[in-house]
Amino acid sequence: MNREDSVGRLLDEVLRSPRYGHVCAEAILNIGRNELGKRRTFKAAVKATKDKLHQIGGAYFRGIPRYAVWLHKLTTAKRLRDDQEFRHLCIQFMALHSSTLERLKILDHFYDSLFAQLPHVHSIIDIACGLNPLAIPWMPIASSTDYYAYDIYQDLIEFIGSFIELAGGRPHVEAADVLHRPPRVRADLAFVLKNVPCFDQVNKAATSQLISQLDVRYVVVSFPLRSLGGGDRFLTKQYTARFAELVQDTNWAVTRMEYKTELVFLIEKTETKS
Ligand SMILES: C[S@@+](CC[C@H](N)C(=O)[O-])C[C@H]1O[C@@H](n2cnc3c(N)ncnc32)[C@H](O)[C@@H]1O
Repeated sequence: MNREDSVGRLLDEVLRSPRYGHVCAEAILNIGRNELGKRRTFKAAVKATKDKLHQIGGAYFRGIPRYAVWLHKLTTAKRLRDDQEFRHLCIQFMALHSSTLERLKILDHFYDSLFAQLPHVHSIIDIACGLNPLAIPWMPIASSTDYYAYDIYQDLIEFIGSFIELAGGRPHVEAADVLHRPPRVRADLAFVLKNVPCFDQVNKAATSQLISQLDVRYVVVSFPLRSLGGGDRFLTKQYTARFAELVQDTNWAVTRMEYKTELVFLIEKTETKS
């Protein structure tokens, strides 16, 4: 079997698995090609590709998302103008992805305090968004805000597109591998929330390239501060050092904020060092 045949077969095998059937082909191919080059057998490459997809995406889900049911419930609450129920549902669904679950504890002040540091924002890019756009009702932004969201899951991103519209924003969503194809769109602000440790498992160099290529004035880069062993002091130190590496060749202005479950760096992009 030649190499391109193996790549095609690997894609088919991964897409056949119920857990990864909704992952975009681009992400599977980028990981799969790399694994085919590294592993001794085709079977081992397929397994390694699935394991990597689990590490960067599947592991965060705390149950099977029922996007059609979620959308129906949210649409009903919106139609009844029941804002309390709408927010209640957002919280309930955010709890099904561990990244947003951890943020629920700080949701009431997280976005208010972040946006308080920024001029008025008209457009947002949410990189590897997971279910973070469900927090739009807590973001102090105008309903006409252009919201660009990307993730590797096709079904998640379609749901997110419908949600943004329901929440009053202007959705621009795409299932994409942002490490290989960073968004080219221009916006005021980008969220790179809790993604760096995940991206680093695939390609460390690509993470800093992605951040520098984003065509925005402000970037919010955050790291998770919840460790099972309670070693948060160690994590804070480790992630502070990793962030310093990411911005080491720049003159960007950085504001650091520490929340109970998240370490945040707000970057204002200025000229890069020559
Ligand atoms: C740690 S979660 C963070 C989710 C969200 N940013 C948040 O903080 O709530 C990582 C997310 O990145 C997505 N992801 C991982 N690698 C990606 C890639 N190369 N391109 C696009 N999305 C990716 C996963 O599917 C997952 O939803």
